[in-house]
Formats: sequence, C-alpha cells, structure tokens
Amino acid sequence: MSMEFMKVARVSDIPERRSKLIHLENEQIALWHVNGRFYAINNVCPHQHIPALHKGTLSGDKVTCPMHGWTYSLETGVAEFGDGKVKTYKVKIEGEDIFVEKPMSTW
Ligand code: FES
Repeated sequence: MSMEFMKVARVSDIPERRSKLIHLENEQIALWHVNGRFYAINNVCPHQHIPALHKGTLSGDKVTCPMHGWTYSLETGVAEFGDGKVKTYKVKIEGEDIFVEKPMSTW
C-alpha cells in the first residue's frame, strides 16, 4: 500500500524546540522541531486522552505532557514515563515544505 503525504507547514513556521498543532484526516498531530529534525506524533496523550502534547515540555527528543507528566519519545512514541505509546507519523521535508504521512483510516 503506498503511503500518502500531505503538506502541512513550512520549515520556517516552526522554530527549533517549538511545535505546531495540525489537523489531518480528523486527527490532531503535534509537529515538533528538535535539533533540525521534525517529528509528528498524535496530539492526544494516552493517559487521559487529553489533546495536549503540542503544549508539552521538551527534554532532548522527548516530550512531557503538561497535564500529569507522562513522557514520550518523539522518535518512537513509546512512553518513557507513564504507559503505552502515542502514534507517530512519518515526516518528509522537500525544500521549505513539511509533509506528514496521512493517517490511515482504521476501517
Ligand atoms: S493526560 Fe497526559 S499525562 Fe495525564
């Protein structure tokens, strides 16, 4: 199955160590810029299903939810404090444009 990407932002829209909340196919995605790379993770924290990860605090390439401190790897989505995993999406950069993998519908 071929993967579709959608243009979601420009590189200059998101300074280092900041994020942008984007909406794609009914999903909220937090797009983070860390050390020259862009990471896309689902914005909804698995702990209490609160859409807050774009407002999280960074440490290295991990983001900590502002609600109760669960912390996820931006690379893998796996919780390093707390439990479970947040969905991650592939990102590609073409020139100034940032593209994110279109979420697959689950049905
Ligand atoms: S909702 Fe994110 S840590 Fe509780």
